[in-house]
Amino acid sequence: MIEETRILLRHAEDPKMATLAGYESYGGYEVMKKALKEIEPEWIVNELEDSGLRGRGGAGFSMGKKVSFLPHTNDAKYLCCNADESEPGAFKDRELMQRNPHQLIEGIIISSFAAGIVHAFIFIRGEYDDQADILDRAVEEAYEAGYLGQNILGSGFNLDLVVHRGAGAYICGEETALLDALEGKRGNPRLKPPFPAVQGLYGGPTLINNVETLSNVSHIVANGADWFKSFGTEQSPGTKVVSISGCVKRPGNYEVELGVSLRDLIFGLAGGPLDGHEITAFYPGGSSSPVLTPAEFDLPYSFEAMAEAGSMLGSGSIIVADDSVSIPRMALRTAHFYRHESCGKCTPCREGTNWTEKMLERVCTGEATPMDLDIISSVQDNIMGHCLCVLGDAMAMPVSSMVNKFRDEFEETIASEAAKAWSMPVEELAGVGAGSAGDPVGRTSPGVPPGSPADPASSPGRDVPSGDEPGPGGASPETLRRERLAGRSIPDGSGG
Ligand SMILES: Cc1cc2nc3c(=O)[nH]c(=O)nc-3n(C[C@H](O)[C@H](O)[C@H](O)COP(=O)(O)O)c2cc1C
Ligand code: SF4
Repeated sequence: MIEETRILLRHAEDPKMATLAGYESYGGYEVMKKALKEIEPEWIVNELEDSGLRGRGGAGFSMGKKVSFLPHTNDAKYLCCNADESEPGAFKDRELMQRNPHQLIEGIIISSFAAGIVHAFIFIRGEYDDQADILDRAVEEAYEAGYLGQNILGSGFNLDLVVHRGAGAYICGEETALLDALEGKRGNPRLKPPFPAVQGLYGGPTLINNVETLSNVSHIVANGADWFKSFGTEQSPGTKVVSISGCVKRPGNYEVELGVSLRDLIFGLAGGPLDGHEITAFYPGGSSSPVLTPAEFDLPYSFEAMAEAGSMLGSGSIIVADDSVSIPRMALRTAHFYRHESCGKCTPCREGTNWTEKMLERVCTGEATPMDLDIISSVQDNIMGHCLCVLGDAMAMPVSSMVNKFRDEFEETIASEAAKAWSMPVEELAGVGAGSAGDPVGRTSPGVPPGSPADPASSPGRDVPSGDEPGPGGASPETLRRERLAGRSIPDGSGG
């Protein structure tokens, strides 16, 4: 069985790490002190670029290159740490902030020093209340120690750091929507270019990086680019904190060298599927990545290998589904999340997510036809690449992969749900779609494990209709649904 390679999560199990004294007892802030006194900012930028550190928030862009894009002027420049982490399946930033907030703060100070930035922000997901409290305390400690504020440790370098709590919208993780939200506006994506490095927060050049990306910075500056490149693969150097969830025995965060096999991650570290079950599919990079199948278990987990397999590593969140999970319902759950989180600014995403959810609902209630599956696929093709930001693609890519790879299961679901609808006594028919309160999926299959991708409670998608509200004319939604299925009107409570 493979071992973890812990750099970011080293000593994470020691609760003292969340405090300044604990962090310093393991050598924390020494690199920052040395950098501010003895190292030229240009050296840091070059070292970050040489290290090949790629962004850990999703896109995998070189962090050093991003820093080098910031203009060398005296204009106000900003750093925004993206701690929004709202994608289903992602929970690694939460652990990094909770267990080791000073590692992140030290990374922010060194990066800001390298780029000549004097105002920094951590934009944290609204629901991460406990982690925001921990960060608030850590920032306060750093100010008291003289590591933040004016003339830090007599170096002449100033930096203010503010922790800003979001209001709990997934779209605010998109970097330009995050900037709008920080400016106090509704978090809507901006048209790019201009990119944030040129025109970002308050119109100033802005460096936006993920929590895990910034947490790597002090280690690279302390040990050098070559040390960092000794981990991982040539195109994906370093370690990665991988969140593994769904139908596995030991879900959790595991820090590994990039390039270990998916089999080692899913079976070795996460313990494989629950007894008596087999894995059928998994998202390799969060709910927005096209799903892979067991045929891909032996691929290395790296940015390049996941892209070659037609998917992506994204933020490094593997969600596993086994044979107890209905893939059509998983697709519906995915579409539901993105429909709910779409900001509505552009048509392909606003209409496409809504339409896709409705069509998948028809699949799951047996109202669709196999031909509808072709239409669902072609609509996904028309969403991809045609949206203002990639939220639309984030639904279209996984849904398209599920329909294409599991077409037989979609067709079987349509046939079996339609058969059930026509042969069931109406009392039973009323149960179709009433699998559980708040379940928009209308789950009818037993055995969907809590916390699995098909379980509505496992995802932060909110505002799920309860199914209890009366429809037009006072008829209950259940009656309306039964009428749709039966193709005729059914008196409430008459049984037929
Ligand atoms: C809809 C959407 C949500 C996103 N959510 C996050 C997020 O929660 N955290 C994050 O770091 N990046 C998120 N991203 C990616 C950011 O736009 C950006 O690429 C990232 O913060 C850059 O940091 P990195 O280069 O260190 O990865 C999201 C992108 C999109 C399109
Ligand atoms: S793709 Fe969706 S979330 Fe992104 S701007 Fe368009 S409507 Fe908004």
